[in-house]
Amino acid sequence: MQLIAGNSNRPLAEAVSAYLNVPLTQASIKRFSDMEVFAEILENVRGEDVFVLQSTSYPANDNLMELLITIDALRRGSARRITAVIPYFGYARQDRKTGGRTPISAKLVANLITSAGADRVLTMELHAGQIQGFFDIPVDNLIMGPVFEPEINKKGKAEDMVMVSPDVGGVVRARALAKRLGCGLAIIDKRREKAGVSEVMNVIGNVDGKICFLVDDIVDSGGTLCNAAIALKGKGAKEVHAYAVHGVLSGGAVARVSSSELESLVITDSIAATEAVRVSDSIEQISLAPLLGEAIKRISEEKSISELFK
Ligand code: R5P
Repeated sequence: MQLIAGNSNRPLAEAVSAYLNVPLTQASIKRFSDMEVFAEILENVRGEDVFVLQSTSYPANDNLMELLITIDALRRGSARRITAVIPYFGYARQDRKTGGRTPISAKLVANLITSAGADRVLTMELHAGQIQGFFDIPVDNLIMGPVFEPEINKKGKAEDMVMVSPDVGGVVRARALAKRLGCGLAIIDKRREKAGVSEVMNVIGNVDGKICFLVDDIVDSGGTLCNAAIALKGKGAKEVHAYAVHGVLSGGAVARVSSSELESLVITDSIAATEAVRVSDSIEQISLAPLLGEAIKRISEEKSISELFK
């Protein structure tokens, strides 16, 4: 097995490498002076089972090109099997036509990754599970349960806790966690009047006197979670904590979260933390390295991934 890191999330790649006790393969992924991406794998990969770890987070287009070009270099270097390990799959929210003459960019990105030469994909909590079907190669989509469950369990007893989906689209995710933890479920009926602005309308379910856990795949501007927290407190929630796998946290999101009704926000390191995230008292980051490392090991040894979630 060989592990190669793109430039998007070096700390996570190093943590996975430490978990697996497999050194990162030497590679040079750099820019020409006109900013074109160039990748050179500096060790032999002929016949190897190679995992390329790269989140297509900000700057999404640069990181995506790095991933594609690295896969191409590996394919031309005769790697036996190439797995694109994409902890955060950018463009996932563009998973359907939202109007006339609009793209399905998640599908386009899936096509690009496949055409570049990836044999399989390992990713984490896709925005919509159906994105797996955008690929005609195997996709392992890891779920948030094993990462967040131990942390949530520490915060109270099941009978006092409610898992909350901040929108209708996330109900499956919240319901799965509620089932695993044996606690209640609530849903926020969110209406987004215009792109980038979210508005909370209704809380479906009983949250009065409960410790609420908002669970989501992505926290971007923070609007969804912060508005949901206001709605939950308005309905008598005792505490509101938020758990989101991918901390996109663009613009003034970190400040918004800090001054919100949220007691805490827990994210993972699927996206490398910015300085603002690192120094924030309200945001905690849990590493995906053990889960990703274990999944990589299992893929390499042709073992079951679903066993990880039992
Ligand atoms: C939307 O469907 C996603 O699951 C997230 O809820 C959304 O991307 C969060 O965005 P923001 O933090 O900007 O409200």
